Amino acid sequence: MSETVKLCPVDEIPEGEIRGETLPDGSRIALYNVGGRIFATADRCTHGEVSLSEEGTLEGKTVECSWHFGTFDVTTGEATGMPCEHALKTYPVEVIEGVVHVTY
Ligand code: FES
Repeated sequence: MSETVKLCPVDEIPEGEIRGETLPDGSRIALYNVGGRIFATADRCTHGEVSLSEEGTLEGKTVECSWHFGTFDVTTGEATGMPCEHALKTYPVEVIEGVVHVTY
């Protein structure tokens, strides 16, 4: 069964930025502000043990992992640039009264 958790005020994620959060089940996720909309994916690059919220850069809807410059579309999780081949898990996000909620 899925659950929804309240994470942080949307104002704390400026446009073009990535923020790391931990879900109650211990999973690390990354929150991205793409043109004012928030998206959530698993925080770990599927190519290595790298935190995208710490080591990634967001350009439009693409996050680039700084280790080997692989990329993902954060709106779908899809791997869009080598050497990344496996998609990131994505999570539904809702902003309720200015607070980011994620379902996992
Ligand atoms: S660890 Fe992310 S691209 Fe290699």
